[in-house]
Amino acid sequence: METRINEIADGIYRLSTFVPEIAPPAGFTFNQFLVLGDDPLLFHTGLRKMFPLIHSAVSRLIPPERLRWVAFGHYEADECGAMNEWLAVAPQAEVAHGQTGCLVSLNDMADRPPRVLQDGEVIDLGKGRRVRYLDTPHIPHGWEAGVLFEETTRTLMCGDLFTQLGDGPALTESDIVGPAIFAEDLFKYSSLNPGMGTTIRRLAELSPRTLALMHGPSFAGDTTAALRALAADYDRRLADDIAVAAAA
Ligand SMILES: [Fe+2]
Ligand SMILES: [Fe+2]
Repeated sequence: METRINEIADGIYRLSTFVPEIAPPAGFTFNQFLVLGDDPLLFHTGLRKMFPLIHSAVSRLIPPERLRWVAFGHYEADECGAMNEWLAVAPQAEVAHGQTGCLVSLNDMADRPPRVLQDGEVIDLGKGRRVRYLDTPHIPHGWEAGVLFEETTRTLMCGDLFTQLGDGPALTESDIVGPAIFAEDLFKYSSLNPGMGTTIRRLAELSPRTLALMHGPSFAGDTTAALRALAADYDRRLADDIAVAAAA
């Protein structure tokens, strides 16, 4: 297994590891994003068992002990399995997450107390990089779910939203909605809920320049249209499920 590194926005690096054994024959990627600044931030830690691989990839960009922030969308192994390994190698590092994530899991599971972020709170990383944390409860899954938006490059680190199979390019302008619908049909990974379409449409209002997918390429096409199309697809799924339940 190897981890490839690509700069997908100015000062934001995608670390991508392809695992062909997951969802064969297409396979599946796991991506972390390193946002450079005076206080570098890693979004997604990688699986605990992948730590040596991801640590080696980060060390090609910065001395890993310089890492200041460890952030992720929600509490799952691929998002934060190596959180404590990162805290151990980077003495200044803090886990940063929303209130729910800290109260429900991280106050206990993180080896140092996490920094609690309010919905909409910004961390200034220095060198013009500012990340805004946004709560997206249960979207696509996890009560504590949230996303991170880097305001200068307008990069939305959207976690499991738009999850797709395969090992695509680091950055694309091709369709990401169709592959996401296919993966949702296959994995059924989202917690369908009434707020889903509205919350995803609210993310579209950020007018991101780039969507940084955790499982898929980064997308530099019409991000607003893609987010609205994804929201519409979740609205459709919810309406279909309600109709089926009503008819039962
Ligand atoms: Fe997840
Ligand atoms: Fe994930």
